[in-house]
Amino acid sequence: MKELPSSEHLSVADATWLALNVVSGGGSFSSSQPIGVTKIAKSVIAPLADQNISVFMLSTYQTDFILIRERDLPFVMHTLASEFTILRVVNGETVAADNLSVTNGFVRPKLVQRPVIHPLSSPSNMFCVTSLDPDTLPTVATLLMDVMFYSNGVKESVAGNDDSGHIRFFSFSLIEGYISLVMDVQTQQRFPNNLLFTSASGELWKMVRIGGQPLGFDECGIVAQISEPLAAADIPAYYISTFKFDHALVPEENIKDVINALQVSQAEKH
Ligand code: ARG
Repeated sequence: MKELPSSEHLSVADATWLALNVVSGGGSFSSSQPIGVTKIAKSVIAPLADQNISVFMLSTYQTDFILIRERDLPFVMHTLASEFTILRVVNGETVAADNLSVTNGFVRPKLVQRPVIHPLSSPSNMFCVTSLDPDTLPTVATLLMDVMFYSNGVKESVAGNDDSGHIRFFSFSLIEGYISLVMDVQTQQRFPNNLLFTSASGELWKMVRIGGQPLGFDECGIVAQISEPLAAADIPAYYISTFKFDHALVPEENIKDVINALQVSQAEKH
């Protein structure tokens, strides 16, 4: 941030955030292990939402990061201490974090269901969740720049040239040397063959976009409203919060069930 020239065009959320990462300890990794927010909905996302703690969710190809506001850290640790051993990385070393017994005093009335508050939409794009060997980054640097900064969507490759349900969405993250990319199939086709890693099954993902108005950073429970029903139905999901909106990615074959499940909880609000 400090290296960027200050600009009136740069919007910044007014808090500093810390990234938490859930590491599955000890247990064996099997291919049937739920991935993404489905895995942490009950143990992390719901308890934080119940304590009125706002989060910012970033699923990657490799893992899931859950960002919390720095000032909420004591409450987060208190909330999660019952389920997890909380570790802190200090100067590259992992040490036990001390659990300050602080609560924010918030007790959420136990509702049977958490209604979906914000409008949902599902764009027509099919997405791939991929990764890239950092060593091959130079070979695709100009392509990445073109995709991110210069191509205006993928209209040419969309039949009829007027697919109104298609959105432009491209996500690139480089976290501790691991690259994660989420892009639609049209964009994926622009990459050289066999360069991008996908899971062996090479599944495609559909998106549920959350939010009509920009969601802001203070509201809590949005990720929980979406991830809890998905976890209950055992549907894998990646979840990507962005500055304005949230995005859940679910396997293409599950999108109908997801739309139904989330609309049910939406309808029961009234
Ligand atoms: N704070 C929301 C929650 O706790 C998720 C983030 C929504 N905001 C955003 N700008 N994407 O569920």
